[in-house]
Amino acid sequence: MNFPRRPITISALIFLLTVLPLAFPKETSSSTDHQFPRPLILEINESHHLKKSPAAEESELQCTSWRVAAEANNLSPWKKIPDECADYVKEYMEYKGYEIDLQRVSNESVLYARTLNLSGSDGKFSWVFDVDETLLSNLPYYVDHGYGLEIFDGEKFDEWVEKGEAPALKSSLKVYEEVLALGFKVFLLTGRSERFRNITARNLVRAGFRNWDKLILRSTEDNGKTAIKYKSGKRNELVQEGYKILGNSGDQWSDLLGTSISERSFKLPNPMYYIP
Ligand SMILES: *[C@@H]1O[C@H](CO)[C@@H](O)[C@H](O)[C@H]1NC(C)=O
Ligand SMILES: *[C@@H]1O[C@H](CO)[C@@H](O)[C@H](O)[C@H]1NC(C)=O
Ligand SMILES: *[C@@H]1O[C@H](CO)[C@@H](O)[C@H](O)[C@H]1NC(C)=O
Ligand SMILES: *[C@@H]1O[C@H](CO)[C@@H](O)[C@H](O)[C@H]1NC(C)=O
Repeated sequence: MNFPRRPITISALIFLLTVLPLAFPKETSSSTDHQFPRPLILEINESHHLKKSPAAEESELQCTSWRVAAEANNLSPWKKIPDECADYVKEYMEYKGYEIDLQRVSNESVLYARTLNLSGSDGKFSWVFDVDETLLSNLPYYVDHGYGLEIFDGEKFDEWVEKGEAPALKSSLKVYEEVLALGFKVFLLTGRSERFRNITARNLVRAGFRNWDKLILRSTEDNGKTAIKYKSGKRNELVQEGYKILGNSGDQWSDLLGTSISERSFKLPNPMYYIP
């Protein structure tokens, strides 16, 4: 046997970490389960992980600061990610950052859901989920469109939606299954247009989401409304029907703010785009 004489390099280590789960899928599946179908093998440019220059460090801090401000809803409406943060956002989305942030939100959502006492609710306690970047991931689309570096192209995006191939955000599937099992009514409230009802339902089922109570899409009378206005209106209707909204999950603040706000709202990370 030839043993490597050189100390193990970062790329070799990452290679091993990537290949091992393939060799031992059973033993390691839960801890290494990838959220997304790709990339299965990450190419990490080693030089980026050696000691960074002060300028590179400063630039990374600037982009982290931008991302935190975006997540906290402190930015003015924005149409694309800053050019200088293109690599940063790509790495955040593809490497572990995004996945860990998603898991944290999911874990906290489940903890909260379990604290609620649903007996005596007459089946009127509900949880509202957004769809895109909340239950379904459009990352395969955004991989080909600069992770938010390109201005949003509605036509191209609709073509992607029509395929019905968006994978589940696995961390959200956990929350979804948990709240269903606890006995919540589950409402899906999406900015997608009514004409995508069938493909959206098919995509959701294919990704593992089942047994929702209502799938609410934008009808023609909702055209031109901001997401915040449209979604508030739909939540108002649910409340008028006697539902109590105890939880709401969304990747946009416009999924969560407005009127008939949920008892608790869970903001999933999304540094790629902003919807007012
Ligand atoms: C790795 O990154 C450095 C610095 O950004 C760059 O000069 C180099 O070409 C990259 N190497 C590869 C293989 O991409
Ligand atoms: C979420 O919970 C899972 C299962 O309990 C745990 O393995 C994981 O580390 C948690 N992640 C975060 C970010 O809290
Ligand atoms: C849950 O709510 C029901 C009905 O309001 C009440 O009778 C019961 O004591 C509550 N259980 C707990 C553990 O608080
Ligand atoms: C959507 O599905 C329903 C029920 O399966 C069907 O009746 C309807 O024709 C479909 N609509 C479109 C636009 O395909």
